[in-house]
Amino acid sequence: MNKSDINAVNQDFVRYDQVEKDHTYRLAESDSDEFDTDYEIQTFDISQYTHGSDEDKAKFAREFGAAVQEIGFSILTGHGVDTALYDEMNERVVELFTSTAMQDKMRFRARRHGSVSQGYFPIKETSDIHPDLVEGWVWCRRAFVMPQQRDEPFRPADFWPDVRFEPLFRKLALAHEALIKPITQAMFQGLGIDPHHYDERLTDTNFGLRLNYYPPLDPAEDASGAGRLLGHEDVDLFTILPAPTVGGLQVWNHLSNKWVRLNAPPGSIIVNTGDYMQRITNDRLPSTTHRVGKPADGSHTSTPRVSFPMAVYVWEDEVLEVLPGLGNPRYEPVKAITFHTRSTSKFYGDDYAVEKALDED
Ligand SMILES: [Fe+2]
Repeated sequence: MNKSDINAVNQDFVRYDQVEKDHTYRLAESDSDEFDTDYEIQTFDISQYTHGSDEDKAKFAREFGAAVQEIGFSILTGHGVDTALYDEMNERVVELFTSTAMQDKMRFRARRHGSVSQGYFPIKETSDIHPDLVEGWVWCRRAFVMPQQRDEPFRPADFWPDVRFEPLFRKLALAHEALIKPITQAMFQGLGIDPHHYDERLTDTNFGLRLNYYPPLDPAEDASGAGRLLGHEDVDLFTILPAPTVGGLQVWNHLSNKWVRLNAPPGSIIVNTGDYMQRITNDRLPSTTHRVGKPADGSHTSTPRVSFPMAVYVWEDEVLEVLPGLGNPRYEPVKAITFHTRSTSKFYGDDYAVEKALDED
């Protein structure tokens, strides 16, 4: 399979997947795609869970849990994160990508840090399998001044082209970190299992904060058939994505075999479950396919798009095991490093797959 093949489908790479995915979709948007305009991805007020009575919590867990079990995506309001932080992020992400010289960006070209491919991804190089029209930058917990479970020295210059970005991005990571346990607990409670089963391993856990900068498409790119971000499933427990201000996110609806355009209200957070969660929940919470296509309003030829999702992981030496109470396990226990790097070698090449985290240097 050649990276320039814009007609690739997910099943061309299914050998990398560590959870079952039996549907077929084209990685990039095409004129023959069908869109589902009836399905609505549901919105929930998570303050009912974080600040409500036991009854409120049970109701939230039941309804949010059911929505995530059905489609793997939901929208959260009442999350308590100051939305001025999102406004500031939208500005600073544009600044990071447009003001950093290419030679400085390339000094931080992405490479494996533990499980996470961390650093800068040039345009068309987000993955080895598809020429996506996006620049990206990823930092995992190791790149921040934060409580760490790992005894590794923090050297800002190892991670930051300009260390002045770190405090703002850390503020965002910390704000979202406060949501990790409540979201997980509500998902587990919705499945009828111990809500606190993962509390300990989610304390100071690893994450990947990803910044995406989608520049406006010139006419040649617009005509090339390449998309903004290929169809994929997230390799994580779940992803916390503040609603982007520019449209384009599309979610695969397995009920209709069509794509749902997801335009969440400003200030809300989109949450979607990933491969880790599908694995430990014995396929009860799906790792749902999504991608970024051209916005329905055609603004992609004039307007950049920015997003800053946070992928939630467990540390590499944890074991991913089907949770008790969810039936006969369909999957063997597996170390997170093995699971993560085998899965993402789809994007980064076969030699990305390793069995140990600490041979990174
Ligand atoms: Fe994603």
